[in-house]
Amino acid sequence: MKCIGVLTSGGDAPGMNAAIRAVTRSAIDQGWQVYGVRHGYRGLVAGDFVHLGPRDVGGIIQKGGTMLGSARSEEFKTDTGQLKALREMAEEGIEGLVVIGGNGTQTGAYALHQRGFPVVGVASTIDNDLYGSDITIGVDTALNVALEAIDRLKVTASSHQRAFMVEVMGRDSGYLALMAGIAGGAEAICIPEQETPPQMVEQILLDAYKRGKSHGLIVVAEGAKFDADALVHYFKENKSDIGFEVRHTKLGHTQRGGTPGVFDRILASRLGAGAVNAMAAENYGVLVGLIHNEVTTTPLEDVAGKMRPVDLKLFELADILAR
Ligand code: F6P
Repeated sequence: MKCIGVLTSGGDAPGMNAAIRAVTRSAIDQGWQVYGVRHGYRGLVAGDFVHLGPRDVGGIIQKGGTMLGSARSEEFKTDTGQLKALREMAEEGIEGLVVIGGNGTQTGAYALHQRGFPVVGVASTIDNDLYGSDITIGVDTALNVALEAIDRLKVTASSHQRAFMVEVMGRDSGYLALMAGIAGGAEAICIPEQETPPQMVEQILLDAYKRGKSHGLIVVAEGAKFDADALVHYFKENKSDIGFEVRHTKLGHTQRGGTPGVFDRILASRLGAGAVNAMAAENYGVLVGLIHNEVTTTPLEDVAGKMRPVDLKLFELADILAR
């Protein structure tokens, strides 16, 4: 191996830059050349490469987002797209690829692996739903961003005796909602994995009001069957009298754009370096993640198309702690 590429794909996550930096500098330490691929798989298909030296990745460890850009590419899902990507890499002399991202991204990496190309994945998504890593790059920062907003919302909610429905990201996974809900002291948490009907949310809030709480907090994952809009709609339609006045806030992409915290910078540095170590050991077709605090590789075959489930015991804990 003399030359590798590195790309970030899918939803960006705080810490991706720290991972690019770690991959680049660790690869240079091996004596390899490094090319950054701009805009994820879209740039791979287009041959949009930029040479990276140690100084090119200086001053980025503290920056959110990804200096290489990211995209979701439909073209790369096709045979034509993948073959074009392989041709572009061959022309540039790129012999291996480090792919930083979440579920969809690692499925793409597995496709390249199946075509015999040396590829190593790095676990990064704010959703923390990737099989093969207990925790992924970006989730800790995203949670802290959500919590800062939740703490502020609780202050104003208390002043006005209101109940806030706060919607956090997580299309298919309730991890962010569950953790933000426990850490933020939510009365209830609505996640895709465990249906909470609006009638139940209504009762929980009414009970909280009767117990003398000054505010109500419901943390809702965007992928929950009844999201924040659906809950508010239900309360309006039914003219629900829960004591509290109801408001809702969607945190959306604010959670993705944070400045990476210590945890994500260190995690990204460890996993980025781990990806180069895997490449050097010719341990291809694997995802580099953190399992029991050890940098660990898991075959992409086991990762692609799978999801790491949330721990539903924490859902029960949240319920107990809300009383
Ligand atoms: O997968 C990460 C994520 O932030 C999800 O939580 C969210 O549903 C999705 O990406 C949003 O994607 P986009 O940025 O393309 O709207």
